[in-house]
Amino acid sequence: MSNLMEKLTGLKKIKTAVFISGKGSNLKNLIKFSKIKKSPISIDLIISNTNKAKGLKYGNLFKIKKKIINFKNFKSAEKDILTLTVNKKINFICLAGFMKILSKNFIKKFNGKIVNIHPSLLPKYKGLNTHEKAIINKDKFAGCTVHYVTAQLDSGKIILQKKIKIATKDDSNSLAQKVLKQEYKLYPAAILKIFS
Ligand code: GRF
Repeated sequence: MSNLMEKLTGLKKIKTAVFISGKGSNLKNLIKFSKIKKSPISIDLIISNTNKAKGLKYGNLFKIKKKIINFKNFKSAEKDILTLTVNKKINFICLAGFMKILSKNFIKKFNGKIVNIHPSLLPKYKGLNTHEKAIINKDKFAGCTVHYVTAQLDSGKIILQKKIKIATKDDSNSLAQKVLKQEYKLYPAAILKIFS
């Protein structure tokens, strides 16, 4: 939102950072969402733990500051992120395919205002390879969950969840595609729910 718009509407969007490690399709979707009028957030910072994250290209494309943080030294990595978020006046963090587990201390410093999207019906299948697990176990349903982030992997309070049917012909790839489509709806819906 431009300064002029802010003055005219009296509305300020919540400055948000998105943390990624890979493709960044959820990041792209959140950026698009952030640009619509009813979105409570603006995306002002992209953080990746690796320069190999394809999603970093959305920083250039949408002119959003991006920063690669080396997590070899975890403590100093989190310290650098905190400094960056303070400088950019970030008030909310969305994890989107971010492959590091943030410390209790970092989460506390950020006042718990960190959310994540996970491709399973939590508490089922925390961690990796959720779609493979659902297929191997012949589950009838899969889905995705947006939840608050705690220091325990994929365990914070659930904000929203979407359940979908697994077709008999589905494999882990087709299932991942189906779930991703739902993720693109669920993440914005969860953000609207948080700030409504
Ligand atoms: C998504 O399935 C998300 O739920 C999980 O990692 C994947 C990231 O995909 N946490 P992308 O990088 O947003 O395309």
